Amino acid sequence: MKKILSVVVFILCTLLSGCGNIYLPENKGLDTDKITTDESIVVGFSQLGAESDWRSANTQSMKSTFTEENGYKLIFEDGQQKQANQIMAIRTFIQQEVDYIVLAPVIETGWDTVLQEAKDSKIPVIIVDRKVSVSDESLFACWVGSDFELEGKKAAEWLKQYTIAKGIAPQDLHIVNIQGTIGASAQIGRTKSLADAARLNGWDLMAQVPGDFTQAKGKEVMESFLKQYDNINVVYCENDNEALGVIEAIEAAGKRVGSDIKGGEIMIISFDGVNEEAINYILEDKITCIAECNPHHGPRVQAIIESLEAGHTPDKFSYVDEKIFSLDINVKKITVDGIDYEVAAPVLPVG
Ligand code: AHR
Repeated sequence: MKKILSVVVFILCTLLSGCGNIYLPENKGLDTDKITTDESIVVGFSQLGAESDWRSANTQSMKSTFTEENGYKLIFEDGQQKQANQIMAIRTFIQQEVDYIVLAPVIETGWDTVLQEAKDSKIPVIIVDRKVSVSDESLFACWVGSDFELEGKKAAEWLKQYTIAKGIAPQDLHIVNIQGTIGASAQIGRTKSLADAARLNGWDLMAQVPGDFTQAKGKEVMESFLKQYDNINVVYCENDNEALGVIEAIEAAGKRVGSDIKGGEIMIISFDGVNEEAINYILEDKITCIAECNPHHGPRVQAIIESLEAGHTPDKFSYVDEKIFSLDINVKKITVDGIDYEVAAPVLPVG
């Protein structure tokens, strides 16, 4: 009898350990939606969309970091620019009892309720790229991303130094701003820095209109600006994809893009430095200056998860170091908030 019992126990143990990885879908009594793994860390990532080359690089960084070989199971959801989709994705991650939720939020506001639900379920939420604006910051574990206002300050300071070097009077700068998605941190910070600089320096900031961080919208907005204003000499695009659309619109209207404002060219200033075409445009003097926005957050989020796994408390806010790119020889260095930044040549992405 003893022998039979131990054989039964052995068979049961073997069967149970064989169920080790991922789903237990047919196992009655278990939540079939739950993602269970023996060793892998399950990460639910709500990406806001695929509007730009920056976004594609960011998605790629996350996907190549959270691989099975690295000990992760990644559940990826594309929010398609809709906050409602992202909220739905987070609720699904909660049902699936993932180990961590990573959120790249489309806009800053409107996250309190769903983040409270994640907190109640004891799932740490890591915010990446843009920020969330919530009444209680304990609703998320931490954030990692760019200082978008600083990026804008760098671009504006570069423009100021350029005009000084070239002897262009502040009131002779006629600027239009093609903004990003309204309510996104990248838009809020970059728009604010330009508006502040225009006010302080006496620049003519003629208009600011959203371009949604896309090439198509950037082109459409620029076409309309060109019909409204005949004296635009600087276009401040809140990302490179918009800049690509703006160049199309300007050239189609028979005008020239470039740094020679006094010679009648329209100068383009932009953000990111990820898109190969945009970087090539810097080399051709079609985009004069790009403030870098770094998308490679995968390893940074992984370091945060490792820190949390080890029982540590990561910094609440981690800002990424970023550069400013231009090939113009007039401005070699800028100083923003007491810190010097060398104006560097852009580097084409490898591969
Ligand atoms: O939030 C980062 C911004 O979003 C990038 O500058 C832009 O390209 C992207 O769409």
